[in-house]
Amino acid sequence: MNPAVVPTLVAACRRQPVERVPIWLMRQAGRYLPEYRELRSRYGMLDILGSAELAARVTLQPLRRFDFDGAIIFADILPPLIGIGLELSFGNGTSPRIHNPIRTAREVAALRASDPRHDLAPTMDALRMVRAELPPRVALIGFSGAPFTLATYAIEGGTSRQFTLTKRMMFEQPAAWHALMERLTRLVTDYLIAQAEAGAQVLQVFDSWAGVLSTDDYRAHVLPFLRQVCVDLQPAGVPLIYFSTGTGTMLETLADLPCDVLSVDWRVDLAAARRLLPARMAIQGNLEPALLFAPAELLEARARTVLRAGAAASGYIFNLGHGILPQTPPEAVARLVDLVHGYRPAAAGNAPQAASR
Ligand code: CP3
Repeated sequence: MNPAVVPTLVAACRRQPVERVPIWLMRQAGRYLPEYRELRSRYGMLDILGSAELAARVTLQPLRRFDFDGAIIFADILPPLIGIGLELSFGNGTSPRIHNPIRTAREVAALRASDPRHDLAPTMDALRMVRAELPPRVALIGFSGAPFTLATYAIEGGTSRQFTLTKRMMFEQPAAWHALMERLTRLVTDYLIAQAEAGAQVLQVFDSWAGVLSTDDYRAHVLPFLRQVCVDLQPAGVPLIYFSTGTGTMLETLADLPCDVLSVDWRVDLAAARRLLPARMAIQGNLEPALLFAPAELLEARARTVLRAGAAASGYIFNLGHGILPQTPPEAVARLVDLVHGYRPAAAGNAPQAASR
Protein backbone atom coordinates (compact mmCIF):
# COMPACT_ATOMS: atom_id res chain seq x y z
CA MET A 1 0.00 0.00 0.00
CA ASN A 2 1.21 3.47 -0.81
CA PRO A 3 1.37 5.23 2.56
CA ALA A 4 1.10 8.64 0.86
CA VAL A 5 -2.48 7.97 -0.27
CA VAL A 6 -5.11 8.88 2.32
CA PRO A 7 -8.37 7.24 1.22
CA THR A 8 -11.22 9.75 0.79
CA LEU A 9 -13.24 7.88 3.40
CA VAL A 10 -10.49 8.26 6.00
CA ALA A 11 -10.07 11.97 5.13
CA ALA A 12 -13.82 12.54 5.57
CA CYS A 13 -13.78 10.74 8.96
CA ARG A 14 -11.12 13.24 10.02
CA ARG A 15 -13.11 16.16 8.54
CA GLN A 16 -10.37 16.92 6.07
CA PRO A 17 -11.41 18.45 2.73
CA VAL A 18 -12.25 15.95 -0.03
CA GLU A 19 -12.65 16.26 -3.79
CA ARG A 20 -15.75 14.06 -3.84
CA VAL A 21 -18.11 12.67 -1.23
CA PRO A 22 -17.09 9.14 -0.19
CA ILE A 23 -19.76 6.42 -0.28
CA TRP A 24 -20.08 2.88 1.03
CA LEU A 25 -23.21 1.03 2.10
CA MET A 26 -23.84 -0.88 5.29
CA ARG A 27 -24.28 -4.59 4.45
CA GLN A 28 -22.87 -3.95 0.97
CA ALA A 29 -21.56 -7.53 0.81
CA GLY A 30 -24.49 -9.87 1.03
CA ARG A 31 -27.78 -11.23 -0.16
CA TYR A 32 -28.77 -8.57 -2.74
CA LEU A 33 -25.81 -9.75 -4.86
CA PRO A 34 -26.41 -12.91 -6.99
CA GLU A 35 -22.72 -13.83 -6.67
CA TYR A 36 -23.08 -13.85 -2.85
CA ARG A 37 -26.24 -15.98 -3.02
CA GLU A 38 -24.45 -18.42 -5.32
CA LEU A 39 -21.53 -18.84 -2.90
CA ARG A 40 -23.89 -18.98 0.09
CA SER A 41 -25.85 -21.84 -1.54
CA ARG A 42 -22.67 -23.90 -1.29
CA TYR A 43 -21.37 -22.81 2.15
CA GLY A 44 -22.88 -22.08 5.56
CA MET A 45 -22.46 -18.62 7.08
CA LEU A 46 -20.00 -19.89 9.72
CA ASP A 47 -18.05 -21.75 7.01
CA ILE A 48 -17.57 -18.49 5.09
CA LEU A 49 -16.58 -16.63 8.26
CA GLY A 50 -14.17 -19.44 9.21
CA SER A 51 -12.34 -19.26 5.88
CA ALA A 52 -10.16 -16.21 5.32
CA GLU A 53 -10.14 -16.91 1.59
CA LEU A 54 -13.96 -17.06 1.29
CA ALA A 55 -14.51 -14.07 3.59
CA ALA A 56 -12.00 -12.03 1.57
CA ARG A 57 -13.71 -13.05 -1.67
CA VAL A 58 -17.17 -11.97 -0.41
CA THR A 59 -15.73 -8.68 0.91
CA LEU A 60 -14.44 -7.87 -2.57
CA GLN A 61 -17.61 -8.90 -4.48
CA PRO A 62 -19.34 -5.49 -4.26
CA LEU A 63 -16.04 -3.70 -5.06
CA ARG A 64 -15.89 -5.51 -8.41
CA ARG A 65 -19.28 -4.06 -9.34
CA PHE A 66 -19.34 -0.63 -7.69
CA ASP A 67 -16.87 2.22 -7.20
CA PHE A 68 -17.26 2.24 -3.39
CA ASP A 69 -14.78 4.20 -1.28
CA GLY A 70 -14.74 1.56 1.44
CA ALA A 71 -14.70 -2.23 1.69
CA ILE A 72 -16.27 -3.59 4.88
CA ILE A 73 -14.78 -6.89 5.95
CA PHE A 74 -17.21 -9.79 5.59
CA ALA A 75 -17.90 -10.90 9.15
CA ASP A 76 -20.81 -10.54 11.57
CA ILE A 77 -21.34 -8.92 14.96
CA LEU A 78 -22.18 -12.24 16.68
CA PRO A 79 -19.22 -14.66 16.17
CA PRO A 80 -17.03 -12.86 18.77
CA LEU A 81 -19.54 -14.16 21.35
CA ILE A 82 -18.44 -17.74 20.56
CA GLY A 83 -15.03 -16.96 22.06
CA ILE A 84 -16.53 -16.10 25.46
CA GLY A 85 -18.56 -19.32 25.52
CA LEU A 86 -21.83 -18.72 23.69
CA GLU A 87 -23.14 -21.28 21.20
CA LEU A 88 -24.17 -19.53 17.98
CA SER A 89 -25.91 -20.77 14.86
CA PHE A 90 -27.03 -19.01 11.69
CA GLY A 91 -30.14 -20.38 9.97
CA ASN A 92 -31.04 -20.07 6.32
CA GLY A 93 -32.90 -16.80 6.03
CA THR A 94 -33.81 -16.88 9.73
CA SER A 95 -32.51 -14.90 12.67
CA PRO A 96 -29.25 -16.15 14.23
CA ARG A 97 -29.64 -18.03 17.56
CA ILE A 98 -27.64 -18.20 20.77
CA HIS A 99 -28.41 -21.59 22.32
CA ASN A 100 -27.14 -20.90 25.85
CA PRO A 101 -28.29 -17.32 26.58
CA ILE A 102 -26.97 -15.44 29.60
CA ARG A 103 -29.63 -14.58 32.18
CA THR A 104 -27.96 -14.64 35.63
CA ALA A 105 -24.93 -13.22 37.45
CA ARG A 106 -23.58 -16.76 37.74
CA GLU A 107 -23.76 -17.20 33.95
CA VAL A 108 -22.00 -13.87 33.43
CA ALA A 109 -19.23 -14.92 35.82
CA ALA A 110 -18.78 -18.21 33.95
CA LEU A 111 -18.04 -16.47 30.60
CA ARG A 112 -14.60 -17.31 29.28
CA ALA A 113 -11.77 -14.93 28.39
CA SER A 114 -11.29 -14.50 24.65
CA ASP A 115 -8.39 -13.27 22.57
CA PRO A 116 -9.96 -12.17 19.26
CA ARG A 117 -6.57 -12.31 17.53
CA HIS A 118 -6.63 -16.03 18.09
CA ASP A 119 -10.36 -16.84 18.32
CA LEU A 120 -11.20 -14.81 15.19
CA ALA A 121 -7.96 -15.47 13.31
CA PRO A 122 -9.71 -16.10 9.94
CA THR A 123 -11.24 -12.60 10.08
CA MET A 124 -7.82 -11.12 10.83
CA ASP A 125 -6.29 -13.07 7.92
CA ALA A 126 -9.15 -11.95 5.66
CA LEU A 127 -8.43 -8.30 6.56
CA ARG A 128 -4.79 -8.73 5.56
CA MET A 129 -5.74 -10.48 2.31
CA VAL A 130 -8.28 -7.80 1.35
CA ARG A 131 -5.92 -4.93 2.17
CA ALA A 132 -3.32 -6.47 -0.14
CA GLU A 133 -5.88 -6.57 -3.00
CA LEU A 134 -7.54 -3.18 -2.58
CA PRO A 135 -6.36 -0.08 -4.44
CA PRO A 136 -4.89 2.46 -1.99
CA ARG A 137 -7.81 4.89 -2.47
CA VAL A 138 -10.31 2.36 -1.07
CA ALA A 139 -10.42 2.19 2.74
CA LEU A 140 -10.69 -1.14 4.54
CA ILE A 141 -13.44 -1.02 7.20
CA GLY A 142 -13.46 -3.26 10.27
CA PHE A 143 -16.41 -3.47 12.65
CA SER A 144 -17.91 -4.83 15.82
CA GLY A 145 -21.28 -4.92 17.51
CA ALA A 146 -21.61 -2.41 20.34
CA PRO A 147 -21.68 -3.77 23.91
CA PHE A 148 -25.43 -3.06 24.27
CA THR A 149 -26.50 -4.66 20.98
CA LEU A 150 -24.30 -7.70 21.70
CA ALA A 151 -25.84 -7.91 25.20
CA THR A 152 -29.34 -8.08 23.68
CA TYR A 153 -28.34 -11.13 21.62
CA ALA A 154 -26.47 -12.75 24.54
CA ILE A 155 -29.48 -12.30 26.86
CA GLU A 156 -32.46 -12.76 24.51
CA GLY A 157 -30.83 -15.58 22.52
CA GLY A 158 -31.75 -13.93 19.21
CA THR A 159 -33.45 -10.91 17.69
CA SER A 160 -36.24 -9.52 19.83
CA ARG A 161 -39.18 -7.12 19.57
CA GLN A 162 -39.58 -5.92 23.15
CA PHE A 163 -36.15 -6.73 24.62
CA THR A 164 -37.90 -7.57 27.88
CA LEU A 165 -35.22 -9.96 29.19
CA THR A 166 -32.50 -7.42 28.43
CA LYS A 167 -34.34 -4.60 30.21
CA ARG A 168 -35.19 -6.87 33.13
CA MET A 169 -31.54 -7.73 33.70
CA MET A 170 -30.70 -4.01 33.49
CA PHE A 171 -33.30 -3.10 36.14
CA GLU A 172 -33.56 -6.25 38.31
CA GLN A 173 -29.91 -7.35 38.37
CA PRO A 174 -27.82 -4.20 37.97
CA ALA A 175 -24.63 -5.92 39.15
CA ALA A 176 -25.02 -8.72 36.60
CA TRP A 177 -25.78 -6.14 33.87
CA HIS A 178 -22.70 -4.15 34.78
CA ALA A 179 -20.50 -7.25 34.81
CA LEU A 180 -21.85 -8.40 31.43
CA MET A 181 -21.35 -4.97 29.86
CA GLU A 182 -17.80 -4.86 31.22
CA ARG A 183 -17.03 -8.23 29.66
CA LEU A 184 -18.50 -7.16 26.32
CA THR A 185 -16.71 -3.81 26.40
CA ARG A 186 -13.36 -5.62 26.81
CA LEU A 187 -14.28 -8.04 23.99
CA VAL A 188 -15.34 -5.25 21.60
CA THR A 189 -12.23 -3.20 22.35
CA ASP A 190 -9.82 -6.13 21.89
CA TYR A 191 -11.60 -7.15 18.69
CA LEU A 192 -11.45 -3.65 17.18
CA ILE A 193 -7.78 -3.16 18.12
CA ALA A 194 -6.93 -6.53 16.55
CA GLN A 195 -8.71 -5.47 13.34
CA ALA A 196 -6.77 -2.19 13.23
CA GLU A 197 -3.54 -4.16 13.64
CA ALA A 198 -4.60 -6.44 10.78
CA GLY A 199 -5.06 -3.47 8.44
CA ALA A 200 -8.50 -1.93 9.08
CA GLN A 201 -8.29 1.83 8.39
CA VAL A 202 -11.75 2.75 9.67
CA LEU A 203 -13.74 0.99 12.41
CA GLN A 204 -17.52 1.00 12.84
CA VAL A 205 -19.45 -0.01 15.94
CA PHE A 206 -23.01 -1.23 15.19
CA ASP A 207 -25.50 -0.42 17.96
CA SER A 208 -28.54 -1.49 15.96
CA TRP A 209 -30.95 -1.76 18.90
CA ALA A 210 -29.87 1.23 21.05
CA GLY A 211 -33.09 3.03 20.09
CA VAL A 212 -35.22 0.76 22.29
CA LEU A 213 -33.90 2.54 25.40
CA SER A 214 -35.00 5.81 26.97
CA THR A 215 -32.39 8.56 26.92
CA ASP A 216 -31.94 8.26 30.70
CA ASP A 217 -31.36 4.50 30.56
CA TYR A 218 -29.02 4.88 27.60
CA ARG A 219 -27.01 7.47 29.55
CA ALA A 220 -26.89 5.36 32.70
CA HIS A 221 -26.50 1.80 31.38
CA VAL A 222 -24.89 2.06 27.94
CA LEU A 223 -23.03 5.33 27.34
CA PRO A 224 -20.25 4.83 29.96
CA PHE A 225 -19.22 1.54 28.33
CA LEU A 226 -19.25 3.02 24.83
CA ARG A 227 -17.21 5.93 26.00
CA GLN A 228 -14.67 3.42 27.33
CA VAL A 229 -14.51 1.71 23.91
CA CYS A 230 -13.90 5.07 22.19
CA VAL A 231 -11.20 6.13 24.66
CA ASP A 232 -9.39 2.76 24.55
CA LEU A 233 -9.41 2.87 20.74
CA GLN A 234 -7.81 6.29 20.47
CA PRO A 235 -4.18 5.03 20.66
CA ALA A 236 -4.86 2.81 17.61
CA GLY A 237 -5.14 6.01 15.54
CA VAL A 238 -7.99 4.63 13.40
CA PRO A 239 -11.19 6.70 13.03
CA LEU A 240 -14.22 5.26 14.79
CA ILE A 241 -17.81 5.46 13.48
CA TYR A 242 -20.68 4.91 15.92
CA PHE A 243 -23.88 3.69 14.23
CA SER A 244 -27.26 3.31 15.89
CA THR A 245 -30.90 3.38 14.85
CA GLY A 246 -33.96 4.89 16.51
CA THR A 247 -31.75 7.31 18.45
CA GLY A 248 -32.74 10.53 16.67
CA THR A 249 -34.26 11.87 19.88
CA MET A 250 -30.95 11.37 21.73
CA LEU A 251 -28.55 13.24 19.44
CA GLU A 252 -27.48 15.61 22.20
CA THR A 253 -26.55 12.61 24.32
CA LEU A 254 -24.68 10.94 21.45
CA ALA A 255 -22.77 14.19 20.99
CA ASP A 256 -20.95 13.31 24.25
CA LEU A 257 -19.32 10.27 22.67
CA PRO A 258 -15.61 10.73 21.89
CA CYS A 259 -15.96 9.04 18.50
CA ASP A 260 -14.93 10.53 15.13
CA VAL A 261 -18.11 9.93 13.15
CA LEU A 262 -21.77 9.56 14.05
CA SER A 263 -23.84 7.44 11.65
CA VAL A 264 -27.52 8.41 11.79
CA ASP A 265 -30.60 6.61 10.50
CA TRP A 266 -33.11 7.89 7.92
CA ARG A 267 -35.50 9.28 10.53
CA VAL A 268 -32.98 12.00 11.39
CA ASP A 269 -32.99 15.34 9.58
CA LEU A 270 -29.35 15.72 8.51
CA ALA A 271 -29.37 19.52 8.62
CA ALA A 272 -30.71 19.38 12.20
CA ALA A 273 -28.05 16.79 13.09
CA ARG A 274 -25.40 19.19 11.80
CA ARG A 275 -26.71 21.90 14.11
CA LEU A 276 -27.00 19.63 17.16
CA LEU A 277 -23.72 17.75 16.88
CA PRO A 278 -20.35 19.27 17.77
CA ALA A 279 -18.19 20.32 14.81
CA ARG A 280 -15.52 17.78 15.86
CA MET A 281 -17.88 14.98 14.75
CA ALA A 282 -18.17 13.88 11.14
CA ILE A 283 -21.57 12.57 10.00
CA GLN A 284 -22.49 9.43 8.05
CA GLY A 285 -25.85 8.58 6.50
CA ASN A 286 -28.72 8.51 5.97
CA LEU A 287 -30.75 7.63 2.85
CA GLU A 288 -33.85 5.52 3.57
CA PRO A 289 -32.73 2.03 2.35
CA ALA A 290 -36.12 1.30 0.71
CA LEU A 291 -35.57 4.24 -1.70
CA LEU A 292 -33.29 1.90 -3.68
CA PHE A 293 -36.56 0.27 -4.85
CA ALA A 294 -38.08 3.61 -5.96
CA PRO A 295 -38.22 4.92 -9.56
CA ALA A 296 -34.83 6.35 -10.64
CA GLU A 297 -36.02 10.00 -10.50
CA LEU A 298 -37.30 9.65 -6.94
CA LEU A 299 -34.12 7.89 -5.75
CA GLU A 300 -32.01 10.63 -7.36
CA ALA A 301 -34.07 13.49 -5.93
CA ARG A 302 -33.95 12.05 -2.41
CA ALA A 303 -30.25 11.19 -2.62
CA ARG A 304 -29.57 14.81 -3.67
CA THR A 305 -31.50 16.10 -0.67
CA VAL A 306 -29.34 13.96 1.62
CA LEU A 307 -26.17 15.09 -0.18
CA ARG A 308 -27.01 18.79 0.03
CA ALA A 309 -27.53 18.62 3.80
CA GLY A 310 -24.67 16.21 4.52
CA ALA A 311 -22.00 17.73 2.29
CA ALA A 312 -22.76 21.30 3.40
CA ALA A 313 -19.69 21.04 5.64
CA SER A 314 -16.56 18.88 5.57
CA GLY A 315 -16.69 15.60 7.44
CA TYR A 316 -19.45 13.80 5.58
CA ILE A 317 -19.78 10.18 4.38
CA PHE A 318 -22.72 9.11 2.24
CA ASN A 319 -24.41 5.92 3.40
CA LEU A 320 -27.86 4.49 3.96
CA GLY A 321 -29.67 5.01 7.25
CA HIS A 322 -29.39 1.24 7.94
CA GLY A 323 -28.22 -1.83 6.02
CA ILE A 324 -29.07 -2.42 2.37
CA LEU A 325 -32.21 -4.58 2.05
CA PRO A 326 -31.87 -8.13 0.64
CA GLN A 327 -34.00 -7.68 -2.54
CA THR A 328 -32.37 -4.38 -3.59
CA PRO A 329 -31.65 -4.23 -7.36
CA PRO A 330 -27.87 -3.90 -7.88
CA GLU A 331 -28.52 -1.43 -10.77
CA ALA A 332 -29.99 1.04 -8.28
CA VAL A 333 -26.80 0.82 -6.21
CA ALA A 334 -24.71 1.58 -9.32
CA ARG A 335 -26.90 4.62 -10.06
CA LEU A 336 -26.55 5.87 -6.50
CA VAL A 337 -22.75 5.57 -6.49
CA ASP A 338 -22.52 7.51 -9.78
CA LEU A 339 -24.78 10.24 -8.45
CA VAL A 340 -22.83 10.67 -5.20
CA HIS A 341 -19.50 10.73 -7.01
CA GLY A 342 -20.80 13.26 -9.52
CA TYR A 343 -21.81 15.66 -6.76
CA ARG A 344 -19.37 18.46 -5.92
CA PRO A 345 -19.35 19.11 -2.18
CA ALA A 346 -19.71 22.78 -1.27
CA ALA A 347 -16.86 22.34 1.20
CA ALA A 348 -14.39 20.81 -1.32
CA GLY A 349 -11.01 22.41 -1.10
CA ASN A 350 -12.01 24.54 1.88
CA ALA A 351 -10.37 24.20 5.25
CA PRO A 352 -12.47 22.25 7.76
CA GLN A 353 -15.02 24.45 9.52
CA ALA A 354 -14.00 26.03 12.76
CA ALA A 355 -15.58 24.44 15.83
CA SER A 356 -18.96 26.01 16.47
CA ARG A 357 -19.17 24.73 20.04
O1 CP3 B 1 -21.81 -4.98 5.79
C1 CP3 B 1 -21.34 -6.00 5.25
O2 CP3 B 1 -21.45 -6.23 4.05
C2 CP3 B 1 -20.46 -6.90 6.10
C3 CP3 B 1 -21.07 -7.98 6.75
C4 CP3 B 1 -22.08 -7.86 7.89
C5 CP3 B 1 -22.96 -8.91 8.17
N1 CP3 B 1 -23.63 -8.65 9.31
C6 CP3 B 1 -23.08 -10.15 7.36
C7 CP3 B 1 -24.31 -10.96 7.47
C8 CP3 B 1 -22.30 -6.89 8.88
C9 CP3 B 1 -21.66 -5.53 9.03
C10 CP3 B 1 -23.27 -7.40 9.78
C11 CP3 B 1 -23.72 -6.67 10.97
C12 CP3 B 1 -24.82 -7.22 11.78
N2 CP3 B 1 -25.13 -8.52 12.01
C13 CP3 B 1 -25.71 -6.42 12.53
C14 CP3 B 1 -25.63 -4.91 12.65
C15 CP3 B 1 -26.10 -4.20 11.46
C16 CP3 B 1 -27.58 -4.16 11.27
O3 CP3 B 1 -28.04 -4.51 10.17
O4 CP3 B 1 -28.28 -3.70 12.20
C17 CP3 B 1 -26.60 -7.28 13.19
C18 CP3 B 1 -27.75 -6.86 14.10
C19 CP3 B 1 -26.21 -8.61 12.86
C20 CP3 B 1 -26.82 -9.86 13.36
C21 CP3 B 1 -27.33 -10.68 12.24
N3 CP3 B 1 -26.54 -11.41 11.36
C22 CP3 B 1 -28.70 -10.88 11.88
C23 CP3 B 1 -29.88 -10.26 12.60
C24 CP3 B 1 -28.70 -11.73 10.76
C25 CP3 B 1 -29.91 -12.32 10.04
C26 CP3 B 1 -30.68 -11.33 9.32
C27 CP3 B 1 -29.85 -10.41 8.42
O5 CP3 B 1 -29.88 -9.20 8.66
O6 CP3 B 1 -29.19 -10.90 7.51
C28 CP3 B 1 -27.35 -12.02 10.43
C29 CP3 B 1 -26.88 -12.85 9.31
C30 CP3 B 1 -25.97 -12.18 8.32
N4 CP3 B 1 -24.91 -11.38 8.61
C31 CP3 B 1 -26.06 -12.29 6.91
C32 CP3 B 1 -25.01 -11.55 6.37
C33 CP3 B 1 -24.65 -11.38 4.91
C34 CP3 B 1 -27.04 -13.15 6.13
C35 CP3 B 1 -26.47 -14.52 6.12
C36 CP3 B 1 -27.05 -15.36 5.06
O7 CP3 B 1 -28.07 -16.01 5.33
O8 CP3 B 1 -26.47 -15.41 3.97
